[in-house]
Amino acid sequence: MADQNVDSLRRHAAPDRIFHWVTAATMFVLLGTSLLPIIGIRFAWLVPHWVAGLVLTAMVLFHVYRAVAALNLRAMQLKGADFAELKGAKPGKYSLPQKGMHVAWMVVVLVAIATGLILMVKAGVPFLTRNPYLLQLKTWGLLTLLHDLAALGAVFLVIVHVYFGLLPEKRHYLKSMLRGNVSRAALAKDHDLAKVERGE
Ligand code: HEM
Ligand code: HEM
Ligand code: HEM
Repeated sequence: MADQNVDSLRRHAAPDRIFHWVTAATMFVLLGTSLLPIIGIRFAWLVPHWVAGLVLTAMVLFHVYRAVAALNLRAMQLKGADFAELKGAKPGKYSLPQKGMHVAWMVVVLVAIATGLILMVKAGVPFLTRNPYLLQLKTWGLLTLLHDLAALGAVFLVIVHVYFGLLPEKRHYLKSMLRGNVSRAALAKDHDLAKVERGE
């Protein structure tokens, strides 16, 4: 591959980098539109909220398509053997914390999407007939609770993920999410390059 050379490895292809940063942007819009009104900054939050929600939904569908069609499922799959890292073994492409972060985001984002899409019927959007009587009051309550729990999870994950993402000693990962490649020397400190090249 033209992107691979003696000094560096391709870590994130362009469509996946675009996915990451568009998703991140929609996440900040979703958190800002729903949480700022709660702390007293009032504005018409609902339209930008569900619009960002639909963009996020489309991005995730695109990512799942990429994951199946072009990415390597094995590289991100969390396995029992990954726990050997706790005793010092080096991981392949993604470390145990990175795979854990991916699973956590998957749960939070999928719950937010599933509940948010249904809540649009209650809240009212231009292209759906508003119907607050579609479900029983307690079912709407449960969906709202799950949606709000996902929001709480997202606040927690953003703080942890952005903190680690911006740490100076993790700068090579950030560069790879911006430009695509990672230096072999930087990656080899915490990853087993033989495993990375085998697609693990
Ligand atoms: C992780 C991403 C998301 C977060 C953090 C989030 C957060 C929230 C929060 C905290 C509320 C309650 C706000 C309030 O009652 O003042 C809310 C409401 C709402 N969200 Fe989200 N949301 C997310 C994703 C989505 C998605 C993907 C959709 C739709 C595609 C969506 C659609 C809605 C709707 C329609 C409401 C209003 C519900 C109602 O009228 O009770 N959200 N969201
Ligand atoms: C069923 C759902 C999902 C599947 C099957 C899946 C699968 C994968 C796989 C296989 C990779 C590794 C690609 C590689 O390095 O070759 C990956 C990376 C990634 N996933 Fe997911 N994922 C899912 C959901 C999500 C969700 C909900 C998010 C966040 C909104 C997310 C964000 C990411 C990011 C940012 C990466 C790194 C970018 C890259 O691929 O280079 N994923 N995913
Ligand atoms: C300013 C905000 C953000 C920064 C600086 C950031 C940074 C990064 C970096 C540097 C990586 C690459 C790690 C690697 O190469 O292995 C990454 C991966 C990833 N990001 Fe983000 N990110 C941000 C926001 C988000 C948001 C909001 C989401 C979810 C909606 C997200 C989901 C993911 C996932 C699932 C991965 C793959 C797992 C991992 O490597 O931890 N990121 N992020």
